[in-house]
Amino acid sequence: MDKVGFGLIGTGTWGETHLKLYSTDARVKLACICDINEDLVKQRAAEYGAGCWTTDYRELLARDDVQAVAIVTPDFLHREIAVAAAEAGKHILLEKPMATSVAECEAINAAVGKAGVKLMVDFHNRFNTPFTQTKLAIEAGELGELQMASLRLSDTIYVPTGMLSWAAKSTVAWFIGSHSVDLLRWFFQDEVVRVYSVARSRVLKGMGIDTPDFFHTILEFSGGAVAHVENCWILSTAFPTVFEFKVELVGSKGHVMADLSGNRMLQKYTGEGGIYPDVIGAPMVHGRAVGFAVESIRHFVDCVIEDRQPLVTGADGLAATKVICAIDESVRTGMPVEL
Ligand SMILES: NC(=O)c1ccc[n+]([C@@H]2O[C@H](COP(=O)([O-])OP(=O)(O)OC[C@H]3O[C@@H](n4cnc5c(N)ncnc54)[C@H](O)[C@@H]3O)[C@@H](O)[C@H]2O)c1
Repeated sequence: MDKVGFGLIGTGTWGETHLKLYSTDARVKLACICDINEDLVKQRAAEYGAGCWTTDYRELLARDDVQAVAIVTPDFLHREIAVAAAEAGKHILLEKPMATSVAECEAINAAVGKAGVKLMVDFHNRFNTPFTQTKLAIEAGELGELQMASLRLSDTIYVPTGMLSWAAKSTVAWFIGSHSVDLLRWFFQDEVVRVYSVARSRVLKGMGIDTPDFFHTILEFSGGAVAHVENCWILSTAFPTVFEFKVELVGSKGHVMADLSGNRMLQKYTGEGGIYPDVIGAPMVHGRAVGFAVESIRHFVDCVIEDRQPLVTGADGLAATKVICAIDESVRTGMPVEL
């Protein structure tokens, strides 16, 4: 196959990142896009040159010119569409988290297995260069045996209050804690066996958005490594970028420290004040979408065209969901949870 017909379901904030790739990669025909918001989907179709638009994902799935779909609907609306896509024989790029219950992930994996289609869950930090370089150092044995990690991935309060209309139906643990868990599983090449987490709901709840402000989580891996993960949704909007991301990994022979916060590689000071534009996530370079957030999407296109297995599978999506469910249970019970 040298060209693949794509359908996009969910054309909101992150759907637009997908559109940047599908509308500029010559191997992709953007056959159809779908959103229940008719004004939005019409506008996106015109802007990105989609072959057709619809407000009903079943219409999109029924089209022969769609061989692969990206599902970019809110966290808790993935299962039904993913199962229907598999049953329609479409390859699937599913946004993270795969789904918000273990049973939903298992239903998706069963439908994908039965249909024999490809499934990738979009944990794009496996394509983020500070982390790909870290992974190479781990694989080369430079760090020795990994012992512990400290990971802080947090958003400014703009994300739950201004960006996501559905924040109260999700949590920062689902939204970015799932990235944290996948990254650590990938680094450690190991599974989490015990989870202890503490959360607080004060600031956002006081603003009428009933979701925790933050989670502090200890993850114990089967090989004995331990990670501390901090995910918070209430950083000040005065922070230069929408997220803060710091990772430290300590091994028996060495350690690495990555700080992806702040976007200080490019600083613009104009009449609008200080601005720190994105230069590694999804910038456009001479009309071509680049950056780690589009590289994961491009990888999925590669896998469909070259008939390869994606780097992030349904098993990875399920594993991350199991851990986030355990985090929820630990917060609820105040006790560690065994997996
Ligand atoms: N990979 C990443 O780092 C990353 C970053 C941001 C968001 N995401 C994920 O992408 C997904 C979407 O997030 P977002 O920020 O774009 O949210 P959003 O609210 O901006 O967009 C979601 C869109 O889905 C549409 N939608 C809802 N139900 C639908 C249905 N049944 N059929 C068609 N369209 C439907 C909504 O109208 C909306 O336009 C979430 O799972 C989120 O966690 C991933």
